[in-house]
Amino acid sequence: MRVRTGSVALITGGARGIGLGIARALAQRGVRLVLTDVDAPALRRSGEELAELTDVRTHRLDVRDRVAFAAVADEAEQEFGEVDLLFNNAGIVPFSTVDEMTYDKWDLALDVNLNGVVNGVQTFLPRMAGRGRGHIVNTASGAGLVADPNFLYVTAKFAVVGLSESLRLAAAGRGVEVSVLCPGPVDTGIVAHTRSLEAGVGLPDDLVPSVEAFLRSGPGIDEVGEGVVAAVEAGKQWIFTGDEVRVWVRKRMEALLESA
Ligand SMILES: NC(=O)c1ccc[n+]([C@@H]2O[C@H](COP(=O)([O-])OP(=O)(O)OC[C@H]3O[C@@H](n4cnc5c(N)ncnc54)[C@H](O)[C@@H]3O)[C@@H](O)[C@H]2O)c1
Repeated sequence: MRVRTGSVALITGGARGIGLGIARALAQRGVRLVLTDVDAPALRRSGEELAELTDVRTHRLDVRDRVAFAAVADEAEQEFGEVDLLFNNAGIVPFSTVDEMTYDKWDLALDVNLNGVVNGVQTFLPRMAGRGRGHIVNTASGAGLVADPNFLYVTAKFAVVGLSESLRLAAAGRGVEVSVLCPGPVDTGIVAHTRSLEAGVGLPDDLVPSVEAFLRSGPGIDEVGEGVVAAVEAGKQWIFTGDEVRVWVRKRMEALLESA
């Protein structure tokens, strides 16, 4: 879909990280923004920054809250006009060992990283399909295409990839495109943000230095944001942020095909 001046985009988890990178790239193109996040102070700071470039509305929104999601959609569309670009981007990196897994951890991981995307789709896809116009970008991960040992994260992200691929087929005849962003490492503070939610939810102390170093090896949020917007304009189904994920996917596919 062409990203036009005056289009309206809603971004979840837009106060920082990849969501903010996407917001900045859209703002440079004159897209009007509905920026949402659960973190009100960060949202206010990013909203003020982006207001220098484009029209912005900020809404505190926890993507797990279906009622609030619909209310934000109604308010945004009344104030701003129809949302034609939706970025279901909010996410966290919960973690558990096999010995410490609990239903609470599963619920948190799936509620934010999977149901948050479902709630965005359920809120906006019928509106977009009714108008015959729209583009939805769901943020999964390279871990949504190739597993690592973080089963809480991998389960949700594989589901987001499957949901996105299937919806792309289902919505194709309705004028709505669906893409899935599968980042490799991106230099954000997601590890620390997740650990700050509550004790025991994020990565354990001994894993933090290596995972944070891995994320720092990736591109910054502005480069990723530009790449995402270019990919939307090109109508790409899968959006990557570097070459790592392609290498992992090739290995996985070869292993799958070779297993007799
Ligand atoms: N950084 C990476 O290397 C990387 C790699 C692959 C995938 N991703 C995915 O990219 C997305 C963005 O991650 P990021 O690295 O920019 O992280 P980040 O922590 O920098 O930003 C995520 C934002 O989401 C918000 N958020 C968290 N829970 C929320 C909720 N329940 N409702 C609404 N907002 C919520 C946070 O407040 C934060 O502002 C996530 O879905 C993540 O899984 C990131």
